[in-house]
Amino acid sequence: MAKTKTAFFCNNCGAQSPRWIGKCPSCGEWNTYTEEVIQRADAGTAAKSAMRRNAAPVLITEISPGNEDRINTQNQELNRVLGGGLVPGSLVLIGGEPGIGKSTLMLQVALTISDRKVLYVSGEESEQQIRMRAERLGMGRNECYILTETATSEILRHINALHPGIVIIDSIQTLTTDSIDASAGSISQIRETASELQSLAKSASIPVFLIGHITKEGTLAGPKLLEHMVDTVLQFEGDRNYGYRILRSVKNRFGSTSELGIYEMHANGLREVSNPSEILISQHEEPVSGTTVAATVEGLRPMLIETQALVSTAAYGTPQRSSTGFDIRRLNMLLAVLEKRSGFKLGAKDVFLNIAGGLRVDDPATDLAIVASVLSSSVDIPVGNKTCFAAEIGLSGEVRPVTRIEQRVAEAEKLGFDTIVISRLNLKAARSAAKTIKIQPAGKVEEVVRILFG
Ligand code: TYD
Ligand code: MG
Repeated sequence: MAKTKTAFFCNNCGAQSPRWIGKCPSCGEWNTYTEEVIQRADAGTAAKSAMRRNAAPVLITEISPGNEDRINTQNQELNRVLGGGLVPGSLVLIGGEPGIGKSTLMLQVALTISDRKVLYVSGEESEQQIRMRAERLGMGRNECYILTETATSEILRHINALHPGIVIIDSIQTLTTDSIDASAGSISQIRETASELQSLAKSASIPVFLIGHITKEGTLAGPKLLEHMVDTVLQFEGDRNYGYRILRSVKNRFGSTSELGIYEMHANGLREVSNPSEILISQHEEPVSGTTVAATVEGLRPMLIETQALVSTAAYGTPQRSSTGFDIRRLNMLLAVLEKRSGFKLGAKDVFLNIAGGLRVDDPATDLAIVASVLSSSVDIPVGNKTCFAAEIGLSGEVRPVTRIEQRVAEAEKLGFDTIVISRLNLKAARSAAKTIKIQPAGKVEEVVRILFG
């Protein structure tokens, strides 16, 4: 019998050490090391032997690209984020805060896939609870099997007997393997169970979804090492106060990581949002000051998003700056540029910024809309509600060009905007895409002030 071996693991980042240490050299956290038994001397061999099976050199041109056999999950937003469907034999990790809707999303997928058997393994809920949830979601007429089990040896046995086409594990933190003595959810258990599932996925070519919890700090619990092992990491996020949920790809061996999937949580489950712009813009009858629309692109998809600013005289001493959904440092930078270039005295003002719908944007093309909403609120003159913006602002106040301007112009036109303000350097491309919409170029922030308020 192999000798019992132990090691110390950082609960925050998963780093390993032979001794206990107070401060983790890898992530800098204090007092996060705990001892765990790693009994198996040959940890990780399962994955290695799976790799070994066809390890003869093959000419790269003779390898089939395998693109054609992506599995359609019947969920267009999920397909999009996965890069055009699920790749057979891939391991996909879905992370998110508790209660955000991971189990709901995966059960919904399990219930709608109709061309193959799906095995949904739950270590968190009972069969009855899952059945009740399935009834809320609307039961499909497919082969969806539920297994409430946490021992990987049992799960693997059932998989071999059932031959499912897709396996969903809810959640990786509840699984345990016999080959290790540590408790469920510990770093070494997570690593070991994930590696067993990985070798299953690769050898039997069954795609496996792993649901993973996120710690308070916003990182996956059990974490970095898990991110390295899986093929795709998806993050499910959203503001609990809004119904919108966003599925982001953080890592993807089979597609772009800039794709987004958007859902809306309803009483009967998650609904796909295929036309985000239409719901993200509140249709004001009267134009309101401080509100503008940015023509952004998330992944390959253009999205018009409303930004709102409120500028008011600071009541007490230090002015406040607050931002929801947009980087506060970038907001401060934009305010400094405005102050310097356009002569607006914002130093003694409170500035509050909000991106509508609880979204978080990091497309630099949002800059100009934010500048316009700050200006509009500060002079209390509305920007027409048929005008939108797409440009980045540089430190010297220059209005800079952005990528995919044609798509932004086309989306703005589709949604009935009659003017789009862009960088002069984007003018040619924008004109080529515009049919009826007026293209308003600008070179400097000063010019934007003149364009908006005369
Ligand atoms: P859940 O999917 O269990 O979240 P997670 O697995 O990420 O912890 O549940 C998410 C929340 O969604 C839960 O608080 C209840 C709510 N919900 C709905 O609003 N509508 C529904 O149809 C379902 C099933 C859940
Ligand atoms: Mg859950």
